Amino acid sequence: MTLFDRAIARTLPAVPRPIVRRISARYIAGPELADACRAVRQLNESGRRATVAVLGEEIETAGEAEEIARLYHDVLEAAEREELDANVSVKPSALGLLLDFGLCRALLRELVEDAAGRSSFVRIDMEDATTTDDTFRLYRELRDMGLDNVGLVLQAYLRRTLADVDALADLRPNVRLCKGIYVEPARIAFQEPDEVRSGFLDALDRLLALGSYVGIATHDERLIGESLRLLGKHGRGPDEYEFQMLLGVRPERAGELVADGNPLRVYVPFGRQWYEYSLRRLQENPAVAGHVASDVARRVLDPFGLLRGRR
Ligand code: FDA
Repeated sequence: MTLFDRAIARTLPAVPRPIVRRISARYIAGPELADACRAVRQLNESGRRATVAVLGEEIETAGEAEEIARLYHDVLEAAEREELDANVSVKPSALGLLLDFGLCRALLRELVEDAAGRSSFVRIDMEDATTTDDTFRLYRELRDMGLDNVGLVLQAYLRRTLADVDALADLRPNVRLCKGIYVEPARIAFQEPDEVRSGFLDALDRLLALGSYVGIATHDERLIGESLRLLGKHGRGPDEYEFQMLLGVRPERAGELVADGNPLRVYVPFGRQWYEYSLRRLQENPAVAGHVASDVARRVLDPFGLLRGRR
């Protein structure tokens, strides 16, 4: 991010909610479960799978964690009833990880068991580095209970990730591999984009050698190309991996990957906390932040749209 982009990102919270809503509409299915189901149906019709996430990381009480868990059960039930090709992705903190490990494990276990009964799957998202060990512990304990329809996420920017692949090898985990989205110190995380890319490809190579199912979660053209090369090198067929992208990000590229025969899953967030999620997405992406800024400027300078089309 340039200084200018950072400045824009910092001022985003001052942007009126309706504008944030309009710009971010492409990243979020909407506030309600019905919105998520509609988005998933559209994706399925274009050959894409989905993973549905309930927005709600900032919980403070056990009751809120239970409420989020209940919404996730509703998602699983709706996906089965409407015959949608969709599983769920859940943040441990949304199920109370930061409040009470036991509560989080119990809620997650119920969710994974519910998903198993519906032939579905639960992906445990990975959050900031203070939660990494506990998230691995959650995953291992669920697997030790005999639950196999659960996977986790590895973040390529963490220096520990290759060691984590080795530590998890006995479980042959189903992994979503991504760059990692949180701001982490250089002591534990690569800072240079090319170092993160190398970490990504090294981890992918090792996971494929292990025989793990990998969700390759990236919109980065270089990583997509190199990942396809590694899939070829390991002779992986379309039932052994999938690409993953965020709703609204590079949909044309997603379409090309699908047309070439690659399975692809789209992360579909929904929920009443759309505003907080949108701000995060917009702050991550300078191009989108710039779009917001120009949208605001246009409204102030040209409220009737007289200049539109001249830019
Ligand atoms: P990069 O950021 O370089 O993006 C490449 C290009 O894609 C950009 O130049 C831009 O054009 C476009 N792009 C990327 N992000 C965009 C955005 N938000 N809006 C608009 N355009 C965008 N992280 C984590 O720490 N824990 C997790 O559990 C997950 N889960 C997860 C699931 C899925 C399905 C995806 C795709 C990603 C995640 N992530 C995540 C986020 C991930 O770590 C990473 O931050 C983003 O995917 C961005 O990295 P890219 O590899 O896409 O490259």
